Amino acid sequence: MRIAVGITGGSGAIYGLALLKALAALGHESHLVVSEMGAKVMLHECGVGLEDLRGYAHKAYENGDLAASLASGSYPIDGMAIVPCSMKTLSLIASGASNSLLARAADVAIKERRTLVVVPREMPFSPIHLENMLKLSRLGVIALPPCPAFYHHPQDLSDLVMFVVGKILDQLRIEHNLYQRWQGEKI
Ligand SMILES: Cc1cc2nc3c(=O)[nH]c(=O)nc-3n(C[C@H](O)[C@H](O)[C@H](O)COP(=O)(O)O)c2cc1C
Repeated sequence: MRIAVGITGGSGAIYGLALLKALAALGHESHLVVSEMGAKVMLHECGVGLEDLRGYAHKAYENGDLAASLASGSYPIDGMAIVPCSMKTLSLIASGASNSLLARAADVAIKERRTLVVVPREMPFSPIHLENMLKLSRLGVIALPPCPAFYHHPQDLSDLVMFVVGKILDQLRIEHNLYQRWQGEKI
């Protein structure tokens, strides 16, 4: 599958990094757009610079390049995930303001009725954030906040991260084995 991946300046850069690695490992194409703050937070939280980050992607784009293929609905992609999605980018998408390639690609995904997963990260959420998520959810966008479950008994940070990445892949209809699914155990 060909998946557009957006990484913005919300905390939780590790989820975006892990998603890129998982897509590559599973043999899927990732088309990466990173916002300016996304790159800064990635470096701060994961110690990974923009060029190294782009190395995990099948193809990388400049966020200011509004003439890139991802900006057009005629370019075939199977879905998009924005991981993490800052509240700023969430509001841009909810308002339809396509002033960056990342926001435009999300706008395109919505108009083309393609799967769009946003992983909004903030705590607590304000009514503005919640209203933006509700608006997008009603349009078919999947709001998937990074809230790992604990019923699979995570042992470490990787288990928590893989649970969230696995849930993103589930929404993109990509098969994986990143987390232990609930088997209906007796509790
Ligand atoms: C270390 C750090 C962590 C941040 N975490 C969040 C966050 O979790 N959620 C959020 O909405 N913004 C967060 N921000 C603020 C965003 O980076 C800022 O609003 C930025 O304008 C987002 O722009 P972008 O969506 O183009 O990446 C954080 C900023 C820094 C420096």
